[in-house]
Amino acid sequence: MQIVFLCSEYEGLLKTGGLADATRGLAQALRQQGHQLTILLPRYGALYPLPLLEQWQSVYVELNGQHIGAAIRHLQHDDIHISLIEHHDFFNRPRPYDDGEHAYPDNALRFAFFCKAALAYLATLPESQSPAIIHGHDWQSALGSVYLKQLQQQGQLLKSRFVLSIHNAAYQQGLGWHDLPVLGLSPDEVPVQVQLSMLSIGVKNASQLNTVSQGYREELLSEPAANGLSQLYQARQADFSGILNGCDYSRWDPATDHSLIAHYNADDLQGKALCKTQLRKQVNLTETKAPLFVAVSRVTGQKGFSYLIPALAQWLGDAQAQVVMMGTGEQQFIGPLKQLQQQYPDKFRFIEGFDDDFSHQLEAAGDFFLMPSLFEPCGLNQIYSLRYGTLPIVRATGGLKDTVVGLGKRGATGISFEHPSADDVMVALQQAVTLYADQRKYKTMQQRAMQQYFGWDQAALWYQQLYQRALSN
Ligand code: ADP
Ligand code: GLC
Repeated sequence: MQIVFLCSEYEGLLKTGGLADATRGLAQALRQQGHQLTILLPRYGALYPLPLLEQWQSVYVELNGQHIGAAIRHLQHDDIHISLIEHHDFFNRPRPYDDGEHAYPDNALRFAFFCKAALAYLATLPESQSPAIIHGHDWQSALGSVYLKQLQQQGQLLKSRFVLSIHNAAYQQGLGWHDLPVLGLSPDEVPVQVQLSMLSIGVKNASQLNTVSQGYREELLSEPAANGLSQLYQARQADFSGILNGCDYSRWDPATDHSLIAHYNADDLQGKALCKTQLRKQVNLTETKAPLFVAVSRVTGQKGFSYLIPALAQWLGDAQAQVVMMGTGEQQFIGPLKQLQQQYPDKFRFIEGFDDDFSHQLEAAGDFFLMPSLFEPCGLNQIYSLRYGTLPIVRATGGLKDTVVGLGKRGATGISFEHPSADDVMVALQQAVTLYADQRKYKTMQQRAMQQYFGWDQAALWYQQLYQRALSN
């Protein structure tokens, strides 16, 4: 099957979070299952230095009352064909969505242009290369659903179907009615009973929809998780599935991970101890028998910082534990995290930033991984943590609930709590310390966690079924 991804992130090219891991992991698995994949991405500033193939095309689209051109450039990345939509003013910026503080004010127009230009390019391809499935990811690609319908009314791309994956329903890119003519949309192409947004337009118009876990799909059928779109998700329930993300074990396996100073597996954990010693040296924490808690996270409300920080502030005073976190994000949490480090210099480190190698090293070094999210569509870091024998501490929500079995249940692989409160976090942290003190019990759980399997091959089979359903619509 010819499959095209319209996406705003792709691991190895541009990444702000798990969306990038997901688009690359799924693309590779689908390719291994025999499909032809093309990835369409905006040519962001960061992508200008990449070596390109010689051939390129140009397309023109009508948007905002103007005739706007884009160059389509191509490259190969891991044997997958990538086509970049180039428009200097829209995309040649240092960051994809914001200037570091504020979202770009023209984001709706930028990503509408991305979708329109991408589809215009696809419409120029010969029949043999024309995609059966155009697979959009999140609000950035959602308008592809309606622009495809418009092209089909003009007799183009008649065999293609649009599938939309929702990786995070909290980001919608809201619109006003005055935006419709600017984006080339008419009122009958958009949902009327719910908030108007790029995402809601995609949910209305896609042939098939999915989100990235069964648990989150259930949550989206009601408020507040649906952020005002529950009626629309309910109306599309029959075409809306939940497909759990996978893990790319070629990148995330401690037995082969290139970022680690020592390798290990479930039968031989000596390498993990070396990774922990190395990490402690690196962040200047003393060697101790107390457990090491780690986290790698976007520092946003979604990830539970509003209750995690007060919990740590209270708990760390008496606790026999160390905590090392890395992330970037909102100042309202970054400031307090830096204060925690000042308050507990022998127990707490916050590294502001993101480094890919260091994210692997933290996964390997930790005894526990903190992921107390307020909501979590799927979550990948807890899945990586399972494989690295770094027991995840999660709130029972969305994909976290679907992938981690909490302490006290049969087949436990981590620690889970219910309420988004500092008290619940502290109980979970204390459970972790108690569990760690019982090394036999801890190691049994650790080995079980490491044996869990969440490969992209499984997810890709579900996506093939989703594509088949779209094609039979
Ligand atoms: P989310 O996509 O909501 O951030 P996931 O757990 O699905 O959460 O995916 C997180 C992925 O993004 C992991 O690969 C993680 O290492 C990476 N990551 C975490 N924080 C950042 C950041 N600040 N910048 C870039 N990537 C990050
Ligand atoms: C989003 C979600 C995260 C999910 C990722 C990939 O960023 O927040 O839960 O794992 O997308 O689907």
